[in-house]
Amino acid sequence: MPPPPTPHASSPGHDGVSVTGSGSSGDAHGTTAVVGMVGGGQLARMTQRAAIDLGIRLEVLALGADEPAVLAGAVSHIGGPDDLAALRGLAEAVEVVTLDHELVNAGHLAALVAAGHRVHPGPDALRFAQDKLHARTRLAALGFPVPAFRSVANAADVTAFAAVHAWPVVLKARTGGYDGRGVEVVGDADAAASVLARGGGWLVEALVPIATEVSVVTARRPGGAHVTYPVVETVQDQGICVELVMPARVPPAVASRATDLAEAIAEAIGAVGILAVELFVTAPGEVVVNEVATRPHNSGHATIEGSVTSQFTNHLRAVLDWPLGDTAMRAPVAATVNLLGGSVPTDLADRLPRALVDGRVHVHLYGKEPRPGRKIGHVTVLGDDAEHALAAARRAADLLVSPEEAPT
Ligand SMILES: Nc1ncnc2c1ncn2[C@@H]1O[C@H](COP(=O)(O)OP(=O)(O)OP(=O)(O)O)[C@@H](O)[C@H]1O
Ligand SMILES: [Mg+2]
Repeated sequence: MPPPPTPHASSPGHDGVSVTGSGSSGDAHGTTAVVGMVGGGQLARMTQRAAIDLGIRLEVLALGADEPAVLAGAVSHIGGPDDLAALRGLAEAVEVVTLDHELVNAGHLAALVAAGHRVHPGPDALRFAQDKLHARTRLAALGFPVPAFRSVANAADVTAFAAVHAWPVVLKARTGGYDGRGVEVVGDADAAASVLARGGGWLVEALVPIATEVSVVTARRPGGAHVTYPVVETVQDQGICVELVMPARVPPAVASRATDLAEAIAEAIGAVGILAVELFVTAPGEVVVNEVATRPHNSGHATIEGSVTSQFTNHLRAVLDWPLGDTAMRAPVAATVNLLGGSVPTDLADRLPRALVDGRVHVHLYGKEPRPGRKIGHVTVLGDDAEHALAAARRAADLLVSPEEAPT
């Protein structure tokens, strides 16, 4: 029989470091570590699932008690990501602070670091995910391949850029964009002017002739040790990622180039935790960096069932500076289809049993109210080939959210 746990004992620690104080992890419930996450969305919810298995207590800074991670049992601190007092409250309760989204005030994170808190990713790495102009400028300066780009203040700047790189061009909001919001393909100066009239900072990019979009998910510890998952193929519809296939159906040379780029970026920006790097692959096999996310990422969702260790488990292990888990796949292929809320409200409770008739289907529902275009869950199917796995995942997704498949 193991001895009973001692309240307030030092944790067994990581790499021999004991942790005590208000963020102390050892307690009567056998908690191994206490991790704080800013944001309580679906990424925090899936991190909570992973935390449970490792005896980690996840505490989240959430906007309300109805956020997906709080519904899944994460300890909640209620507050916004720009509220320094709330961030301090979270940091003081935990051993390490991490993030479920990018919309966190980097200056506040720097204040937490200055006060001695562990914050992963740190504010410098986070800026690469927050500000597309900063990311493009720094990655280009570091020698990484990125699309031609420049900062623009007005339509004349866009026209000057297009004179060199040809219309149409891509306008991107520097900050705040996601799921294609803040990304506009424009074909002339008038279209550019109306996008810029929305205000905020913009950059313009050359339109890359994309053959395939891929993502590389890597997990990195503070000292640089890392593991990387097989390259994932991502399919976007109107800027929203709708499907994933792991491993990507690209030549080995392309996969290894993408992997090398992602690992080099993780090292260059000092990322800790999961880093996802989205890349464009052109028909001749050129690989260009699109954007980086310094947190668990939609493109890594197939790792939950498809990999020996999920991205969420490896994120926790990385930010705690624990040994990382195997990223090998459990099946030849994993296919994931995102569930997007439609214009018609759907009753998931009625639909779910029909989707589950196919026993290969793994359904993840995020506990979010369905709204048009909003990611409310995903479905993963493992298999021997991409087409069959995708077909099964699409069928299940249709049964769950398509208006045509509504139960009669
Ligand atoms: N320079 C480009 N050339 C061609 N297509 C592009 C370019 N930039 C973006 N796109 C298309 O728009 C999509 C969304 O762009 P991006 O990933 O930059 O924006 P986002 O809305 O921030 O995405 P996310 O939801 O992944 O954060 C890309 O996945 C790609 O399909
Ligand atoms: Mg993107």
